Amino acid sequence: MVKLDYNYCMADYIGDRLGICEKELASYENKVKKAHNALMEKAGKELGFYNLPYDRDNVKYIKETLKKYKDKYDTQVVLGIGGSGLGPAALQSSLLNYISNELPKEKRKGMRTYIIDNVDPEWFSDIMEVIDPKNTLFVMISKSGSTAETAADFLACFTKFRDVLGSNLKEHLVVVTDPQKGELRRMANEFGLDSFPIPENVGGRFSVLSSVGLVPGELMGIDIEALLDGAADMDKATRKGDLFSNMAYLSATIEYILYLKGVNISVLMPYSTKLGKWADWYVQLWAESLGKKVDRDGAYVYVGPTPLKGVGATDQHSQVQLFKEGPYDKVITFIRVEKFKNTVNLDGDDKFKNYSSLSYLMGHTMNELINAEEMATEAALAKEGKPSKTLILPEINEYYIGQMIFFFEVATAISGELYNINAFDQPGVEEGKNFTYALLGRNGYEEKKKEFETLYNKSSKFIM
Ligand code: PA5
Repeated sequence: MVKLDYNYCMADYIGDRLGICEKELASYENKVKKAHNALMEKAGKELGFYNLPYDRDNVKYIKETLKKYKDKYDTQVVLGIGGSGLGPAALQSSLLNYISNELPKEKRKGMRTYIIDNVDPEWFSDIMEVIDPKNTLFVMISKSGSTAETAADFLACFTKFRDVLGSNLKEHLVVVTDPQKGELRRMANEFGLDSFPIPENVGGRFSVLSSVGLVPGELMGIDIEALLDGAADMDKATRKGDLFSNMAYLSATIEYILYLKGVNISVLMPYSTKLGKWADWYVQLWAESLGKKVDRDGAYVYVGPTPLKGVGATDQHSQVQLFKEGPYDKVITFIRVEKFKNTVNLDGDDKFKNYSSLSYLMGHTMNELINAEEMATEAALAKEGKPSKTLILPEINEYYIGQMIFFFEVATAISGELYNINAFDQPGVEEGKNFTYALLGRNGYEEKKKEFETLYNKSSKFIM
């Protein structure tokens, strides 16, 4: 099981400035119990992410439907942004060879995978250079079916490969979207495309364990059943309303208490490059869920801890100086991997024995080094009174990644209850989307265009 070590959030270890004492933590037991009851009323109903670990019919359907594509194609191009892109990207980088696309076919677990989650014309064109459309399945993922970037990426792929996609769209495109609603659903019906559902009650950033992650996951060759097994076990472990028996609630409550003390930055720092994209995923999950202007009673609260990504040991040479000596405004969640799949020896050779910068490493492994660095950073921060906790992953595999995903989802959901905000909407991103539609002349956005022109009336005086 994944474990949570929160010693270095406790006053016994980091002192009184930010450290929490056991009594203080215990004083939140009732609040957490209430939050838990509220959450459990919605779990499996409005909050469909609780059902995903158990939806094995969908797994069966995905496996059966994708078989013909796996036999036929070598590459998948995933088109999806936000919750529809970050999960697949994190699955790819953590569970496959990190540069799997470069391996010969016989050494790969599944299809080469490219994830397009932006509308950067240069980056898009760079990817297109390595795509052979005849050998490629395009996987378009959008819950709403109307996201501008995903729509544009689809049109751009179609335009670029019209000769292949024009006459054979059905063979080269599958979609992941709402089971009933939206234009992508309409397209799937009208063009007879294979399609995979995102349950109506599962929001984008909570959707990695739905078809959103499972379809690209199955195509890239990961064990999607083990992923769900891990999530199911974490679900069981985090169904308890008692604060001290529930690691996701404990983690969220600690961050909540610290937020009330002015700690408004929540860093996720895996000591593993392969887990780095899970920090990107976490940033979206935390930011979009908890950054809210209005609480459930309609009061303006402008609440939300700012999530930040770090990757150890790389960012010891970048951010850790600030974490240690900068303001007392951060809590860091480290992720430590107990047992890496590979052991990399640092034996070197006797001829390096006289170099003190090399000799102390010789005889050790890279595995020992990265974990020593993680523990050393924890201790260095604790010495300064800076709070951190550590999520300990026994290994990087589908089962434990499934546990980790579910842990963060539950921690986010309970945080929404603690902050008394709706963690499952994202009204703040609508305004920018609407202005973009207006700028591109979408019908019905004429008034927005006028509003934009009033707002964007900039003075050349302030442009150098
Ligand atoms: O969490 C969310 O709801 C968002 O980040 C969405 O995932 C993102 O905007 C993409 O939306 P869609 O899947 O509708 O294209």
